[in-house]
Amino acid sequence: MAHKSHSEQTTLKSLVKLLPATSQGEPRHIGTAVMPDLLLDPVYANTVETEFDTVCVEHHLKWEPLLASKLARTGECVYDFTDADFIVDWALSKGLSVKGHTLVWHVTSPKFLEEKSANDLMEAVRRHIHTTCGHFYSRIKSWDVVNEALAPDGSFAETMFTKKLPALEFIEDCFRWAKTADPLPRLIYNDNKVEAVNAQKAIEMYQMLKILKSRNTPLDAAGLQAHFDASGTGLKRPAAPGLIFRQIEKLADIGLSTNISELDVRVAKLAGFDLDGKNRVQKDIYERTLTSCFRSTHFDGVTFWGFTDKHTWCNTFYWPDTPLLFDINFKRKPAYYGVCNSIMNVLNEMDWEGDWVPSSPVMTHSAASESAPPRTDLPDWKLEDHNVA
Ligand code: XIL
Repeated sequence: MAHKSHSEQTTLKSLVKLLPATSQGEPRHIGTAVMPDLLLDPVYANTVETEFDTVCVEHHLKWEPLLASKLARTGECVYDFTDADFIVDWALSKGLSVKGHTLVWHVTSPKFLEEKSANDLMEAVRRHIHTTCGHFYSRIKSWDVVNEALAPDGSFAETMFTKKLPALEFIEDCFRWAKTADPLPRLIYNDNKVEAVNAQKAIEMYQMLKILKSRNTPLDAAGLQAHFDASGTGLKRPAAPGLIFRQIEKLADIGLSTNISELDVRVAKLAGFDLDGKNRVQKDIYERTLTSCFRSTHFDGVTFWGFTDKHTWCNTFYWPDTPLLFDINFKRKPAYYGVCNSIMNVLNEMDWEGDWVPSSPVMTHSAASESAPPRTDLPDWKLEDHNVA
């Protein structure tokens, strides 16, 4: 491999480029979710352009938002692609790829669908997929076709769609409609709490995807959301990196590659650590999780659900937190270097002969975290615990 020199100017995408392609011959990607109004801030836009090779449309490709903006402005219930087009065109003009999120998600679908008969509902979804995929024909590289179709226990979620239509056949149809509308994008099934191979929901998702593949559904990949809370216990605990690796390998057995689709790591509720300690735990979670992922040749890449703590959905959906790679002043956090290390860790395990990349700045233990009381609510993330199953 060609020698390459790195300096402090190393960026996430310059590192990820050093990794070999996946088993399916795809280059690995490293992306972030973006919001259109924020792209007007040059610091925000420059950071996206410099650090990432892919952007994901965080909200403005969902069904309801596609209708809502026009509805609010003119009272008309028709598609308005202004915001989504702005993001997609901006990204393409900067040489970045675009991930579309998401064609079918009950949570952000218009309520008027609930009034429709089964046949009319099917036809509405078909037209929605054709309209949206068709509008972005050849501009979007991968699509989350169906999002969160499964309930926490892995059964089909009861939604406006599954109340009237057989769930599995409906999901299959959605993929076929997307393929017809635009044959090129990689088509993805995306869900939450399916990162660890042994989680009940992950087992059920695998079974569902296996059946879909056996029916030759045009399905290329699985997306594991990975919205992690470092203080979570039980089902809310971040999945162990080794279990994520095994999940990726298992999905490859049925011909699917895997991506991490919405990664963020909340730390605000981590008891017993000061800010410095929280940052270190967060860095470790990012580093160990992504080291495990990039180790698999069936891992397509990662999308972070935003990149600066200045703008994160966690602040409104959960609580004020600092879950991302850059602080509110767009300064790289320890978490950022954890992601760099994850790529370097994997390169170091291969026959990589590039120059050494400076590792993360030395993190110092603060007096407060040194004297923190011992934890009592384990299992949880600890700095010493490698947690690989
Ligand atoms: C969230 C966005 O981040 C918010 O801006 C929006 O208000 C609501 O949706 N799982 C998903 C994402 O699949 O689409 C969600 O995104 C976060 C949870």
